[in-house]
Amino acid sequence: MPDFAFQARNLVYRYNQAAALDGLSMAVHKGERLALVGANGSGKSTLLRILDGLIFPQSGELMFFQEPVTERRFQDSGFNFQFRRRVGLVFQNPDVQLFNPTVFDELAFGPLQLRWPKSEIRDRVEATLASMDITHLRDRSPHRLSGGEKKRVAIASVMILDPEVLLLDEPTAALDPRSESQIIDLLVSWGGGRKTVITATHDLDSLEEIADRCLLFESGRVVAEGAPLQIVHDVPLLERTRLVHPHHHTHPEGESQPHPHPHVHR
Ligand SMILES: Nc1ncnc2c1ncn2[C@@H]1O[C@H](COP(=O)(O)OP(=O)(O)O)[C@@H](O)[C@H]1O
Ligand SMILES: [Mg+2]
Repeated sequence: MPDFAFQARNLVYRYNQAAALDGLSMAVHKGERLALVGANGSGKSTLLRILDGLIFPQSGELMFFQEPVTERRFQDSGFNFQFRRRVGLVFQNPDVQLFNPTVFDELAFGPLQLRWPKSEIRDRVEATLASMDITHLRDRSPHRLSGGEKKRVAIASVMILDPEVLLLDEPTAALDPRSESQIIDLLVSWGGGRKTVITATHDLDSLEEIADRCLLFESGRVVAEGAPLQIVHDVPLLERTRLVHPHHHTHPEGESQPHPHPHVHR
């Protein structure tokens, strides 16, 4: 029997009226790098919040390593502690995640919560700062950093806990190309490929680097599944799910009819 990190069946989640998740089913293998791909509003962030135990579906069921994840389960402090240690979420907007006076404190916060020994915390903060190439930011206020720097600090504050399962919401959104490629390199090398990593993205260019498998989202459901290469070359599917759209134009050298080319939105 395959070893699943998460199994979700028929999840329904409504914020108000319309369903953000509309009967969504999916499974994530232990050690798999999975990409959640889909247009804005297709439900990716909602699923990540559910997988992180921040919100709970109105119906359907979620299993984490064969154990049911429910609001009630989190009232058990042992379960809560273990789950928080094993699963980490990096939010799309680092401003939501960063609230400490310095970058050092930001990285030390999670380990302090988990009551690691002080000397171990200091060592791990320094090692994580170095591995993320942000040692020079140690004493800075997270709120006064650039977008790319904030993002690296937010990722570092989760990675320091060395979670088994890492959830990333649009890790390269709104970054300049250099910060973007730094973060992709980091994600590619992290955990030596043994970690379970679930990344929501609509950056089709980096899919192959960050994922072994993709789930394509549309209107709160998974509508297709495949290897990154297979998904990025399925233009009709990408058009239908609004991940690419054709721009109509003519070429100067003589074609008379306007015609579309697929156009990837980054
Ligand atoms: N906090 C919220 N309150 C109300 N509706 C929300 C909220 N967050 C998301 N939604 C709605 O839920 C749907 C799914 O959103 P989301 O999960 O953020 O999609 P994605 O991450 O793929 O862009 C969208 O229709 C969105 O407008
Ligand atoms: Mg989102």
